[in-house]
Amino acid sequence: MEDRIYLNLKREEKNIPIVFVERIEKIGEYLASFNCSNLVIFTDKLVYKLYKDFIDSLQHSYLYLFDEGEESKSIESYLKAIDYLLDRNVDRRALFVAIGGGVVGDVVGFIASTYKRGVRLIHIPTTLLSMVDSSIGGKTGINYKLYKNQIGTFYQPEMIIICPQFLGTLPKSEVLSGIGEIIKYGFTLDRSILDMKDRFENDVFEIFQDKILAMQLIKKSINCKVKVVERDEKESLLREVLNFGHTVGHALETYYNYYFSHGIFVILGMAAEMILSNILFNFDLSNLDFLIRILEKNSIKLPQRFEKSQIISIMKYDKKNINASIRMVLLKDVCDYVLGYEVNEDILYEALDRFEKIVLS
Ligand SMILES: NC(=O)c1ccc[n+]([C@@H]2O[C@H](COP(=O)([O-])OP(=O)(O)OC[C@H]3O[C@@H](n4cnc5c(N)ncnc54)[C@H](O)[C@@H]3O)[C@@H](O)[C@H]2O)c1
Repeated sequence: MEDRIYLNLKREEKNIPIVFVERIEKIGEYLASFNCSNLVIFTDKLVYKLYKDFIDSLQHSYLYLFDEGEESKSIESYLKAIDYLLDRNVDRRALFVAIGGGVVGDVVGFIASTYKRGVRLIHIPTTLLSMVDSSIGGKTGINYKLYKNQIGTFYQPEMIIICPQFLGTLPKSEVLSGIGEIIKYGFTLDRSILDMKDRFENDVFEIFQDKILAMQLIKKSINCKVKVVERDEKESLLREVLNFGHTVGHALETYYNYYFSHGIFVILGMAAEMILSNILFNFDLSNLDFLIRILEKNSIKLPQRFEKSQIISIMKYDKKNINASIRMVLLKDVCDYVLGYEVNEDILYEALDRFEKIVLS
């Protein structure tokens, strides 16, 4: 299955291959094609445990293991990795390889972009979410204090290698998390993804047992992301469309202390932002029923009441906001979006109130 999509960044004259391989054994050949002083593999402890034989088989000079989880996107974790590299005199001609989910990808991307002013990087995403979203587009980031991704860069990898074999060990919650982002593409950029609504509502694992369907969904999603990033790499406006569901989603994620995986908060965030879209643009709420059915089917439940003022104040720190006003992507209809809409706080209260009653009840 040698198969590629290219992310073509005209301004930087970069054409980044997104390579699809069927078996993990093929990955080593791609890495071997790069000339480098040191091959440094970064992964997390859980991924290493699951894929030890494969990772050990790569001809690496160094292997750096993060703890699994969002904590690894802290400044302390970033500095610890930098110390590790400095202590070993790793130079600028090294090649960094990030094998893992979005956490490893984001922190290693930030390390690669800042260490010695930039070291080449390859992403090998191992979660569904990182395959369809975080590994594509060059955003890197670490968290600061309470807030996610407040420190980061745009830094494009040399290559992204997608191997669906990794999905075989993902727990259900992580599959659902990736489905959250895939559904987001369906609502914003490619409505054909929603043709599979019935399958999404059924067992999420079942979709990925059908390898052809799984690849189709992954490729459709990657194509959505690639098209947006090609037109707006640095998020001046269009790229914001990818944040549908994320303004409220990130705030809930922070408020509930990362209780669920990221993409599940995106599903919850999309539900709240659909309610807002309904209040402001008469968006058809039958789409919300679809999200609620997915949440119910997968027993995703949040405590029924939350402090709306706290959620709103977290949103004010969201990086899309200018002068602390709350701006977000809303929908008039499926794939008919409004970017950077400034939402008045009273309306936000009303929407969160309805969200509590409809979605959390
Ligand atoms: N850079 C971007 O554009 C972008 C976009 C979306 C999300 N993100 C970031 O991505 C992060 C979330 O990424 P994620 O959802 O991949 O979470 P994650 O990286 O925390 O991975 C989730 C869990 O799955 C485990 N795991 C990874 N691969 C596995 C596999 N093949 N089998 C079994 N377990 C596996 C990990 O060890 C971890 O415990 C967040 O920090 C978010 O901010 C970044």
